[in-house]
Amino acid sequence: MLDIFDQLRKEIEEAVIDTKEAVEDFRVSYLGRKNGRLKALSEKMRDIDVADRPVFGKNINALKDLVNNRLDQAQQLLRSSGSKKGKTIDLTLPGRKPDLGSLHPLTQTAEEIQGIFTAYGFTIAEGPEIEDDWHNFTSLNFPEDHPARDMQDTFFLREKSVDIDAAVLRTHTSPVQIRVMKSSQPPIRVIAPGRVYRNETITFKSYCVFHQVEGLYVDEGVSLADLKQILHMFARAMFGEDVKTRFRPSFFPFTEPSAEFDVWMPNKDLPAGGRWLEILGCGMVDPNVLEAVGIDSERYTGYAFGMGVERIAMLRYGIKDLRIFYENDVRFLEQF
Ligand code: PHE
Repeated sequence: MLDIFDQLRKEIEEAVIDTKEAVEDFRVSYLGRKNGRLKALSEKMRDIDVADRPVFGKNINALKDLVNNRLDQAQQLLRSSGSKKGKTIDLTLPGRKPDLGSLHPLTQTAEEIQGIFTAYGFTIAEGPEIEDDWHNFTSLNFPEDHPARDMQDTFFLREKSVDIDAAVLRTHTSPVQIRVMKSSQPPIRVIAPGRVYRNETITFKSYCVFHQVEGLYVDEGVSLADLKQILHMFARAMFGEDVKTRFRPSFFPFTEPSAEFDVWMPNKDLPAGGRWLEILGCGMVDPNVLEAVGIDSERYTGYAFGMGVERIAMLRYGIKDLRIFYENDVRFLEQF
C-alpha cells in the first residue's frame, strides 16, 4: 500500500504544470470528483482493515495538501510571468536618446561673432557688469551732467557722493575699452562680449537686459577705411557673401566721426523688397578717450564698434519679438 502513496507523491512532485491548461488538467486528474485519483484512493478505504484506516486517511490528506501546494505555486508562477509579458527586454532595439540641452540662440550667435573676429586676430576681453560712473561715462567723453547720460536709461546702484563715484549697471560694453586701454599698450585688438542693462520700457524690440559685442583696435595709422573693411568682412561672414551694407553718420561721445552700420534685409512682403536694419554703432576713437587712459593721441588712432547680439540673432533666425529670448520656453529653445 505504501508503494502507491510513494509513487503518487513522486508523480505529484514531478508533474510539469507551466500553463493554465496543465494546471487545470493536474487539478482534475488528482482532485476531480468523478475520476480524481485521490478520490479513487479514498474509495479504497472501505477495502482495508479498520486498524489501518487512520494511517491510510492521513496519507491521502498529505497527498491532497501536496497537490494543493503545487497548484498554488503553479498559479502564482503563471501570474507573475504573465505580468512580465511585454516587458521582456529586446536588446536589438535602438537605444533611447537622452534629452540633451543645447546652447541658447544668443550664446550661439555671440560665439559665432567671436569666432569671426578671433579669426582676424582679435582677442577676447571682459569687464564687470557693475561699473562706476567714470568707466561707463566720464572716461568715454560723456560730459558731466550732459543729457547724453540720459540717452541710455541707466540703472543706478549708488549715487555719487563727495568721496565715492556712482555705481551703475553698465549700459554698454564700451567701458571694457577703457579697462583694456588702461591696462595695456597699443597695438590693441580686442572684442568684449557681455551683458548690458538699460532701464527701458519692455517691448518687442527692447528689454532691460541685452547683449553687446564691443570691438576695439588701436595702433599707429588705424583709419576709417580699416573700420569699414572689418565690418564689411564681418557682415559677409555673418549674413552671406552678397549681403548689402551701409554706413550712416551718427553721434557717440566717445567716437569721432561716428556711424551706424545697417544690413539690408530682403523681404518680399515689403514694397521696397526689404529694409535696412541697424546692427551696430561705430567710429574712430575720440582723442579725448585716448588721453583719458594715457595713450598718446598724436601717435595712435583707433576704431571701435559695439553691436547688439539680440538684433543679429533676430535677423538670422527671423525672430520678431526679442522677449522670447528671455522666456526660457523649451519649445522655442529646442529648435536651436
Ligand atoms: N556703446 C554704443 C552703444 O551702446 C555702441 C558703440 C560702441 C558705438 C563703440 C561706437 C563705438 O550704443
